[in-house]
Amino acid sequence: MKSKNILSLVVIFAALAIISSQSLAKDSQIDKKVNDLIAKMTLEEKVGQMAQYTIHGANDIELENQIKPLVKKGGVGSFLGLAGKNTPELRNELQKIAVEQSRLGIPLILGYDVIHGYRTMFPIPLAQSCSWNLDLAQKAAAIAAKEASAAGQDWTFAPMIDIARDPRWGRIAEGFGEDPYLCSLFAAAKVKGFQGDDLKDPSSLAACLKHFAAYGAVQAGREYHTVDISKRTLWETYLPPFKAGVDAGALTLMTAFNEINGIPASGDPYLLNDILRDQWGFEGFVVSDYNSVFQMISHGYAEDAGDSAVKGVTAGCEMFMESKASIEALPQQVKDGKLSEKVIDEAVRRILKIKYRIGLFENPYVDTTLADKVTLTKENIAVARQLARESFVLLKNDGLLPLKKNKIKTIGIIGPLANNKDDMMGTWAGSGDPNDAVTILDGIKQQIAPGTQVLYAKGCDVDSDSTKGFAKAIKVAVVSDVVIMVIGESAELNGEAHSRSNINLPGVQRRLVELVKATGTPIAVVLITGRPLTISWLEENVPAILVAWHPGIQAGPAVADTLFGDFNPSGKLTVTFPRTLGQVPIFYNHKNTGRPANKKDRYTSKYIDVHWTPLYPFGYGLSYTKFDYSNLKLNKKKIKIGDSLIVTADITNTGDVAGEEIVQLYLQDLFASVTRPVRELKGFTKLKLNPGQTKTVSFVITKERLSFYNDKMKYLVEPGDFKVWVAPDSVSGLEGKFTVTAN
Ligand code: NOJ
Repeated sequence: MKSKNILSLVVIFAALAIISSQSLAKDSQIDKKVNDLIAKMTLEEKVGQMAQYTIHGANDIELENQIKPLVKKGGVGSFLGLAGKNTPELRNELQKIAVEQSRLGIPLILGYDVIHGYRTMFPIPLAQSCSWNLDLAQKAAAIAAKEASAAGQDWTFAPMIDIARDPRWGRIAEGFGEDPYLCSLFAAAKVKGFQGDDLKDPSSLAACLKHFAAYGAVQAGREYHTVDISKRTLWETYLPPFKAGVDAGALTLMTAFNEINGIPASGDPYLLNDILRDQWGFEGFVVSDYNSVFQMISHGYAEDAGDSAVKGVTAGCEMFMESKASIEALPQQVKDGKLSEKVIDEAVRRILKIKYRIGLFENPYVDTTLADKVTLTKENIAVARQLARESFVLLKNDGLLPLKKNKIKTIGIIGPLANNKDDMMGTWAGSGDPNDAVTILDGIKQQIAPGTQVLYAKGCDVDSDSTKGFAKAIKVAVVSDVVIMVIGESAELNGEAHSRSNINLPGVQRRLVELVKATGTPIAVVLITGRPLTISWLEENVPAILVAWHPGIQAGPAVADTLFGDFNPSGKLTVTFPRTLGQVPIFYNHKNTGRPANKKDRYTSKYIDVHWTPLYPFGYGLSYTKFDYSNLKLNKKKIKIGDSLIVTADITNTGDVAGEEIVQLYLQDLFASVTRPVRELKGFTKLKLNPGQTKTVSFVITKERLSFYNDKMKYLVEPGDFKVWVAPDSVSGLEGKFTVTAN
């Protein structure tokens, strides 16, 4: 038996050795091809590879007179935003010019913002993160890659993994919440989903980690604004998801628009060279964000276009998205001796390597018949429905939900987002078609018991002063047994360049809810939004609130499944909901301070006009059943640095329906060479439990989970006491304690 095991180990090692020597050989073949090509390229052709231009919206004349000739002369290496009906055909046409008519036959790489789906639009990323379901999020990325690649795309500008702690910032919708650990896991899952196991597989896309770095920390949540943060905050909060994405094999990375501590990210050698390349060993290439190299002039960091180009390339930015003037000025900078051609060669080498690695030289064209076969399939739609349902978070329920279909004679559906397809799609849904979306009104109609009357009134717009629709809405409410109010934010209020200075329910929606409430008919609110909103009034005044975010094309079925109890909500918040905007930034992993908030002591860290706690904390979310946490056990109370211990707890479904619970593991390092947060998420598991069933969860507390950047910025474990929680959210749970000793 023993010798058999040894034999199989030998066979496995031999196989691994062969595979790794094969991939090394492949890499060196690619290196050779790339070097041969670079040796043949003119300076202008090299700079051409570094240029990425927008093709979105180009008309036929521009295509014929500017774009095609540019491709033919090798003046561009990439396009972004190829969209519209005949994308596969247009892609092949352009690629043919690049491959067959340009001097060196280098294929183009086509990039697109495939953020949360291509045609099958899934929930926005912030919503997806509330599912805590990494496998499903990965699956959604793989589907998006399949659809997008069939449509002619090679590369997605995703995942967006900027930690965001300020809901005013419109791009909070595009990321995976406020926690670096959870966001890191989503970063890796998305990279794996987009890129698949085989980079040359035509149904995969190259991924792009963005925006490097700390874009989510813009001052006052104001888009494109300044970022001024400590090195510690950068490393502890904003960098971990990027490291995880690099480790997962992401092929490209995008710079951020913002400056950090005085240096614009697109020209920051500390970020792009020191951290990304030297410390993390990133082997892909870096693309700037849109025009951000040229914008270093407005930042006051570059003198002119030529200087911006030199600063960008020298810092480690290899492809310029737009920044045409900077690109055009680049050859002269080399000729004037301001930049060595070797730096350009290195940039081009990285770009060409990726073009080889994803198989563009071998297989530059797409099968134009494929898109119809793989797009919007039954399976894709089923995943969109499941991911939407799992992303919903039940914020409040006084027992109104789930609705009992057979007991409702008349149901009123009220609100500007109820009979609405466009806003279900969310931000960054340009390749989608709102006609694919099922409205929440239709979803409810499809699932309601026969004989139940469904009444609908829009009531008002999302964001206007008009109250013209109020009267009809009140009439509907008066005659209904129950009202579903579908309110919140339009997709338009989120995403890039959509920061808000208040995060209330926009327009007159709150007044509409007040009037409907006055009729006495019970209200369940379905909140459609791309960011946390200040909804304390709703919490105090309506019996049930389900946040459904911007749920994607399966909005209607997913919401109806949940309202009627065919699906038991299990999502938990990955971003804190404040009580008022004045609490922002508010996040769960804050520090304790020297005067932790205390009700009885005025001179502690709090407000005089609002409670210091959030309305809904990170990790929070209800279910139609109840889960009881008990029996916390630690297998050791003391461990040495480097050792692990095991924490277990029992979770019981004490209600009478089956449900899923996201069980969370938190740690606190009680004393260290630098202060540590009150809690940090270090693990989680999603459990399915039948009524009455108990399962034991078990977490291993490893060295990695105990490590942090100490006062010398060294990542390590320090001896001392730690608290541990196995918890349903970031503010409650079972608490234990253990000690780490130096030896
Ligand atoms: C600007 C955005 O910041 C970035 O995320 C996006 O990928 C590019 N535009 C291209 O659309």
